[in-house]
Parts: sequence; C-alpha cells; structure tokens
Amino acid sequence: MTNRMTTDTDSPEKKIAAASPLFPQQDIDEIQRAISNILLSGRLILGEHTLAFEQEFQSYLGVEYAVAVSTCTAAIQIALRFYQVKQREVILPTNNFIGVVSAVLAEGATPILTDMNTETFCADTDDVLARITPKTAGIILVHIAGLVHPDIDHIRRVCEDKGIFLLEDASHAHGAEIDGRKAGSLADVGCFSFYPTKLMTTGSGGMLTTRNKQLADYARSVRHHGVGNSLDDVVNLGNDWCMSEIHAVLGRFQLKRLEQNLEHRNRLISRYKNGLKEVSWLSIPRYPKNFRHAYYKLPILLREGLDRDRFRRMIFEDYHIENGAIYDPPCHLQPVLRDLLGYSEGMYPKAESALKRQFCPPIHSALTEQQIDRVIAAIIEAGRRCGFD
Ligand SMILES: Cc1ncc(COP(=O)(O)O)c(C=O)c1O
Repeated sequence: MTNRMTTDTDSPEKKIAAASPLFPQQDIDEIQRAISNILLSGRLILGEHTLAFEQEFQSYLGVEYAVAVSTCTAAIQIALRFYQVKQREVILPTNNFIGVVSAVLAEGATPILTDMNTETFCADTDDVLARITPKTAGIILVHIAGLVHPDIDHIRRVCEDKGIFLLEDASHAHGAEIDGRKAGSLADVGCFSFYPTKLMTTGSGGMLTTRNKQLADYARSVRHHGVGNSLDDVVNLGNDWCMSEIHAVLGRFQLKRLEQNLEHRNRLISRYKNGLKEVSWLSIPRYPKNFRHAYYKLPILLREGLDRDRFRRMIFEDYHIENGAIYDPPCHLQPVLRDLLGYSEGMYPKAESALKRQFCPPIHSALTEQQIDRVIAAIIEAGRRCGFD
C-alpha cells in the first residue's frame, strides 16, 4: 500500500534522497478523483476542501482556528501584520530559514537574531530573553528539526507579562508534542509549511493556527486581498495568499497519514541511534520522554576539528546518499543580511561553531529500515576513511 522502497529495489548505487514526500498509490487514486471533481465544480479556491482541511487540522492540533494559506511565509507575514510590527523589533533565531527573516523585513520590522542552544538546536533561551527591549513586538521560536522548543512555556509566560506576541514556527514540527500538547497550539499563533520536504506537503502551502478569533478573521481577510463581507468591501491591506482547493485536497490526505509517518520516522531514528551508538566521533541529541519529536531532521554533531565537508561529500559521491546541514551558514552570515544589517562572523559563536560540525543524514517517511542500515554503514566507513576514528 505504501510507496516505501523494498530491499529488492535498493542497491548501493541507488541514490538515497535526504528528504522526499510520500503519497501511497491508494491516496494518489483518491486524490485524482477529488481533483477531477474540483475541476468540474469550478470552485478552485476557498471551497469545501479548504474548509475541511482547516477543520481537520485545527481539531488535530486542538486549537480553535486554522486558516489555510499559500505558504508558511504568508502565514508569518499575516501574523506579523496583525501584531503591527512595523518599525518595531522581532526576535528570532539565526539558525533559521532565511525566508522568516525576509518576512520580518517585508513587514517593516527589524529582525533581532539570537544564538542557539547546541544541545537542542533551538534558540538559546537566555539570549532570547536578554534581547527583549521596549521596542520588541514579539518573538518567533522555531521548533528546529521537529523538537518543540523546550522552554516554550516559560518564554510564553514572559511574553504575556511583557505584552508581546509569541509565534511558533512549526514548519518542522507537524505532530510534535511537549507533555502531550501539540506544536502550533502552544503560543499566540502557529505557522506551518507544507513545502515538499516537510513532514506533510501540499506542494506549496501553509497554515496559520490560533485561539484568537480576531487573528483568524484577519487572516481570512488578508489572505484574500483584505476583503470584508464581500469582494467589493476591502477592509485590510492584503495579498493573494489563498490555498487552492487542489492543494487543500493534498493536505487532507497527507494529514491522514501524518501519525503513521511520524511513528515510522521515530522507528527509523531509533535505528540510527542504535546503529551509531558506538561511534565515538559523533553525538546524536537525546531528549526527555515528555517530548514527541517529529524528526523533520536528525542533526548530528561531529567532534570538533573533523573535516565535516569532506565527510559529507564522500557520503554523497561515494555512497550516493544525499545529506544536509540545517541551517549552515546561519542567517547572519548570509551575504544579503551581512550587507543589509551589518552582521559579521563571531556575533553568534555557538551557532557558528555547532552548525559547521553538523550533519543531517536522510530522514523521510518513504525510507526503509534497510536503507537506514545502508546509511549507517556508509557513515561508519566514511568516518574511518576520513580518519575520524
Ligand atoms: C523553519 C521554516 N520556516 C518557514 C519556512 C517557509 O515555508 P514556506 O516555503 O511554506 O513559505 C520554512 C521552509 O522551508 C522553514 O523551514
């Protein structure tokens, strides 16, 4: 029923992708029928599938409102506009997707980057809190790699005290939990991406989640050019940020598979942890039991002083295994932000040193345990060839 590859189709020459969407054949057949019906209906946006996807997503998360939009970046921009960040500051991690920083700039605010915690890869809590000033409009926390920010409750309480917003960027964390509570339901607003590499995908797409009716109403208006009660009644400055019905259908089918895919990913990660536990030159993060990690990625740290880039190249070229390093280089070292905001090397030392040592092996829902074993063997052998032992 699934499209997971079997041992028969795997071979040492066959490339293993770092990330890949998974659409089982049964879902593809049903999606095709649903898309035909959408095309015949003539209702291509804001129809029954968008509404159903929103309702299914909000009940999965346990929040009052979910608003489907064209991308996560759009969801973030809508939230920033709602909180009137213009000419104020927004705090967010430097180890982040550059588009989030761009969204802050696009809304007329100043991004204030923070360093990271090298154990969790999430933003360093002390650094986040130390950067709050009277100009701060709010904080964006990213649940990096699928781990809910461990201090989110504490940070939310500080935000409440100070009257600033807290936004969860849950683009890596569909279904991730802390103490049984889901990412995207833990702050003022959650923003999700359904980009093709994510835990669930609609090709491109996003979702804004909240318990705040005013924000949900605002998002519904702004995603559709700011309309009010009718198309002739424009009450907000908006954009064309609707999710299409076709994208919404994909999302509904992906959401139905999310739980089983998360369980599968967690099994694969246990296999990685077990297979690599004797390897002295790398460390794999471990988390307390009150977290349910979504494992969008598995960031592994190599011991200091090892040639990570040669190792990564070898894994790809000699073993045909794609691999990554999120987010290396961090945002403050991207040329555009160095030029625009005057960032330079040494400003976020923990991120700079950890991200350079980081390596993310393949993890996605279509991988098999046999493929994980192939990756483990390649990591061990390449490490030996690079002289890491
Ligand atoms: C942490 C994070 N935030 C935001 C985004 C942007 O998502 P989208 O491409 O849906 O706008 C991404 C996408 O890769 C991401 O990883």
